[in-house]
Parts: sequence; structure tokens; C-alpha cells
Amino acid sequence: MAAPCGGKKCRIGPSILNSDLSELASECQRMMDSGADYLHLDVMDGQFVPNLTFGHPVVKCLRPKLPGVFFDMHMMVQKPEQWIQNMADAGANQYTFHYEATDDPTTCIRKIREAGMKAWVGIKPKTAVDVLVPLVDLVDMVLIMTVEPGFGGQKFMADMMPKISFLREKYTDLDIEVDGGVSPSTIQHCADAGATMIVSGSAVVNSENPKETITYMRDIVNQAIQKTPA
Ligand code: DX5
Ligand code: ZN
Repeated sequence: MAAPCGGKKCRIGPSILNSDLSELASECQRMMDSGADYLHLDVMDGQFVPNLTFGHPVVKCLRPKLPGVFFDMHMMVQKPEQWIQNMADAGANQYTFHYEATDDPTTCIRKIREAGMKAWVGIKPKTAVDVLVPLVDLVDMVLIMTVEPGFGGQKFMADMMPKISFLREKYTDLDIEVDGGVSPSTIQHCADAGATMIVSGSAVVNSENPKETITYMRDIVNQAIQKTPA
């Protein structure tokens, strides 16, 4: 399945963390029907973050219900190496691990690719963006967190935007994903800084009109991309 990235175009990946998880498949479908480009699935292990969600058994059940949908696995777990094969077998398309969660990011990236998934790496708010520089050429995308990972519905940290601008200036074509507190009222910051992959949870799932919310945010980001010199 083609990754929903590249080509300097905005993609919106709703996070279903704050949706009705007893209706996970239909909530995911509702997001796709509202114009989502991919789904952002938040996996938490109670160690890397102080919360628990779900793991590969749930992804395995979702896969046949959402054929053709790109699953962006946000792995907020300690020792991310341990779940790579399980997630690949369950039908995940890509595996975003946290830089802070492993001693050996390079091996983690290699194992993700060997398992047939896209490899993405993310950093928490307190981690300096420089740590990503040696990894940029090895991964398909980077994730800049704009909340402390663990919970949906938190306040957007606008002071993370310089990390995105720093990367955008250095790597014109890099796909940069932003996650945490992204909504119609904060999207302009992300767009101006140069983010292209937009994760938005509560703002989309709780919206009265998710299609309108997704379209609004996508338009703002695409307008910013068009203003950027090629
Ligand atoms: C936070 C998660 C996010 C979050 C997004 O730990 O990684 O994906 O649920 O939800 P909002 O947009 O509500 O912050
Ligand atoms: Zn997430």
C-alpha cells in the first residue's frame, strides 16, 4: 500500500484515541468517510507513557474491516523493537517509534523496514530536534509531538514550532508529522512552520462536521505549502 506521504502535499490522519473505542471500526470508517488520508493509531504501554490503549491484536481485527486504509502506528512504548513483527503481521503499514524509547534507533529502523513497514521516528517535547538529524536519511518521516504523549485533548505547545521550522529549512522534501492539540485554531502554526502530515484527535472526532474540519485544516496547510519556494 502506498504511504500517504511525499509530494509536498498535506495529509490528515485523525487519531481515534478520544473516540468511542467500543465502536473502533466504525469510528475509523467515519473518519475515512470524512476525508481522512490515513489513520493514526495510538499504542500506549503504561511505561513509556502513563496510559494504556491497545496493541497488535486490535490492529489485526481492524485490518480486514478497513481494507486499503493506511495505518500509522504511533508506538508510545518502551523498547519498541519488541512489537515490530507483531504489528507487521497484524497489518500495520508503518511503525513510528520514539527516539527516547530505544538505545538503538538505527537497528530499530532496520528491523521495521525488514518487516515490510515504513519507519518513522518521533520525539517528545523535551527532546532536542538535533537528535533526528543523523536519522533523517534512514526514515520515511519524522514526528514532532506538540503535547506530552499519553492523552488526547491536551493543549497545543506552540513552542515546538521552531523544531519543525528547523527541519523544514534543512530538508525541503521531508514529511513532517505533527501530533497533539492540533485543531482548526492551532493548524496555522503547524502550516507556517512547515508540517505536512497532520494528526488531529479530539478536534476531528468531536467535531459536529468532521469533514468540514478536515477540509479546513488541509486547505490551510496546502496554502502554506504553495507559498513555499519550490
Ligand atoms: C497523544 C497522542 C495523540 C493524541 C491526539 O499522546 O499521541 O495522537 O491523542 O489527540 P488530540 O488531537 O486530541 O491532542
Ligand atoms: Zn499520536
